[in-house]
Amino acid sequence: MEPVSAALPEKINFSGVGKTFFVRGTEVQALQPIDLAVRAREFVALVGPSGCGKSTLLNLVAGLLQPSEGSVTYDGKPVQGLNFRVGYMTQKDTLLPWRSAADNIGVSLELHCRSVSKAERAERIAAMVDLVGLSGFENHFPGELSGGMRKRVALARTLIYEPETLLMDEPFGALDAQLKLVMQDQLQRITQDRKMTVLFVTHDLGEAIAIGDRVVVFSGRPGRIRAIRDVTLPRPRDVFRMRFSEEFSRLHEELWDELKDEVVKGTDI
Ligand SMILES: Nc1ncnc2c1ncn2[C@@H]1O[C@H](COP(=O)(O)OP(=O)(O)OP(=O)(O)O)[C@@H](O)[C@H]1O
Ligand SMILES: [Mg+2]
Repeated sequence: MEPVSAALPEKINFSGVGKTFFVRGTEVQALQPIDLAVRAREFVALVGPSGCGKSTLLNLVAGLLQPSEGSVTYDGKPVQGLNFRVGYMTQKDTLLPWRSAADNIGVSLELHCRSVSKAERAERIAAMVDLVGLSGFENHFPGELSGGMRKRVALARTLIYEPETLLMDEPFGALDAQLKLVMQDQLQRITQDRKMTVLFVTHDLGEAIAIGDRVVVFSGRPGRIRAIRDVTLPRPRDVFRMRFSEEFSRLHEELWDELKDEVVKGTDI
């Protein structure tokens, strides 16, 4: 597969973007002004300590929040109101417990794409169930699914309306190490095939290097960009074996040095 070309157009641009919240009379600066440009079809992984503004950053791209300073643009235009070009897998699992896996997957089509007929909806749900490996479990309710299966339902629900960009907030955080690798592998395949742009938040530096084209390390709150590195390992990647490559070890060591300081600062140990 060809690498992401520097010639591809810019998809998302953060220019001097800062965010301050006011909570019951107290100011909380979540993000210091940051600059970051994400190209079309690029997979950018964001890592940083808890509370450094990673979810805030995704909320700004989704149009759920407005910056306190600077501007966020999508395809060159400021994000104003909800950004329907992006699919958002939020940090909290928001599956509807009273709907089956299939009906959860179809919910975004029902809400956003009213022109899609019932028959087409059923067809697209079936294709999604197949794509994320949930065959046989489509009629199960969320409470009857494992954590990994619930994540697959959430991923399918986000992909079904074919967004060109994916925002993912710690999607695999709660999964065991083996399942994480399987999900990373599937995600890489799906986003490459569909030529998607991805902003992927994770606490796991190894995961960020394994699937990112670029890794951005944030400082503790208020978040600012502490380091950015390209990952030039070719795709498709073997997310398991690449951990033994020289480039992976070098990047892991370099970026861990940056991240470690920030994580230590945020603890009382
Ligand atoms: N809607 C909000 N109202 C008030 N404060 C908020 C809001 N959203 C986030 N914050 C504050 O902004 C800071 C950054 O929060 P954010 O959720 O972006 O961090 P994060 O990097 O995603 O953390 P984590 O890794 O724990 O998910 C925190 O101090 C948080 O309390
Ligand atoms: Mg978060």
